[in-house]
Amino acid sequence: MIKIGAVSRPRFTNKVVLFFAAWAAALLAMYLFWSFESVIKELLEHRMGTSPSPSAVTITSAVKLFLIGITAYLFVRALNFLFFGLAFRLKRIDAPTLIRNIFTIVVFTILFLIAFTFIFPDVNLGALFTTSAIFGVILGLALQDTLGNFFAGISLQADRPFQVGDVIVVGAQRHTGVVEEISWRAIKIRTFTNHVVLIANSNAAREPIEVCPRDNLNARIVVFNTLYTDSPAKTIHVVREAVREAENVSTKVSPIVRIRNLGDNGVDYEVKYWLEDYAKYNDTDALVRQRIWYAFRRAGLNFAYPTRTLFVERHRAAVQRDGGAIVERLSAVDIFAPLSVEETGMLAQAAVRHVFAPGEMVIRAGDPGSSMFVVHNGRVRVQVNDNGRPRTVATLNEGDFFGEMALFTGEPRTANVVALEETEVLEIGHSAMKRVFDTNPDLVESLSFIIAERRQGLASQADSAAPASDSSAGLLSAIKRFFGLSQ
Ligand code: CMP
Repeated sequence: MIKIGAVSRPRFTNKVVLFFAAWAAALLAMYLFWSFESVIKELLEHRMGTSPSPSAVTITSAVKLFLIGITAYLFVRALNFLFFGLAFRLKRIDAPTLIRNIFTIVVFTILFLIAFTFIFPDVNLGALFTTSAIFGVILGLALQDTLGNFFAGISLQADRPFQVGDVIVVGAQRHTGVVEEISWRAIKIRTFTNHVVLIANSNAAREPIEVCPRDNLNARIVVFNTLYTDSPAKTIHVVREAVREAENVSTKVSPIVRIRNLGDNGVDYEVKYWLEDYAKYNDTDALVRQRIWYAFRRAGLNFAYPTRTLFVERHRAAVQRDGGAIVERLSAVDIFAPLSVEETGMLAQAAVRHVFAPGEMVIRAGDPGSSMFVVHNGRVRVQVNDNGRPRTVATLNEGDFFGEMALFTGEPRTANVVALEETEVLEIGHSAMKRVFDTNPDLVESLSFIIAERRQGLASQADSAAPASDSSAGLLSAIKRFFGLSQ
């Protein structure tokens, strides 16, 4: 494998001038040699001391063959250029370098053999090739690598695992770059530091090659992290939106943001995105990281850095911050409207906060339950089983409550309740409610109306776990019985 710095290619006109100069020189050499052949032969015979000398004839013939060979080679190159250039001009067929090389080798060999038989009519070429075992062995050994590369190149052209313009990663050394050329000897790739790496075809045939085709939607993964205090649902949403907009990120597939690990210092995430032009992945990765930084800044999210967090555990009610917000939330719930400020405060102190991810189940139908919930932030959906398929019967928003049926009647949960987005709920248990009922017996009555209404709704849904509808009066006495209140 040879690695060389980027060089500017000779321009087309320079190539043409060089070509004609070489051809003119070859023709002139031929003309001069042919004109002075007899003089050169005499000179050789004179030096060898024999006349006529077969050796002098062989030497002059060999030089003639050499000069014809050079001219034939230049002629074949010109033919190659005209033939494949014309094919590209007229039919837009861009022949691979390997095909051009094979064309040059075959035509040149034919011309050379014709010239050989003319100049050495006495030599039987067929016999030379078939009988000379030593010649075969020498040729085989000398061409071992060359032939290996050549045949590996042919199989690469036949298989076409990648093409010019694709990004490839080759072998254990992970040479990465854009394919510029596949010749009879090597694959030429331009790395992202603008170096050219030549990988011999025979080496490439042995190594694993990762191909990122140009016309394929190739993906990249960029990692980042947040503090444990930052919400995953919010992080995922913010990063997805920020990355979606970035230049060269494909709009055909939405980026995927997911938690990769719960790390020592924070939550580790990865964002997987698809590129329009994979060859620009370094720039796009950098742009994605930049967008994440700005989006974090706007959304108040924090990158994690090596930290050690010391938690001092105190009584829950004492550490429950923003208790004022919970009191405010509970006093806005219609069934708690009759409660005094102190009673709502008591309820708020007993309430436990829980956060659920989008899609997580807060309550499962059929489970036993001894608490009710108030939606503090977010939204939930109430679902019943309709012939084996979930069917939504209600969507509850901030300030709405659920789970009261099992709490007040002691029966199993009548429906599934699922978080629609990241949702925070306040859980109020049996004992807290009993304290409230003891001081506010009227509350039981208004609750029994709501439960009866919801049961009515559930009874109309097939397969629901709700028992047949009870009257609110029946419910009232059932609740009182369950809570040990006077009838
Ligand atoms: P519970 O049976 O304890 O658990 C499931 C909860 O879903 C139930 O209490 C109610 O709070 C709620 N629920 C059931 N049906 C409805 C409905 N039709 N509208 C609103 N909420 C409901």
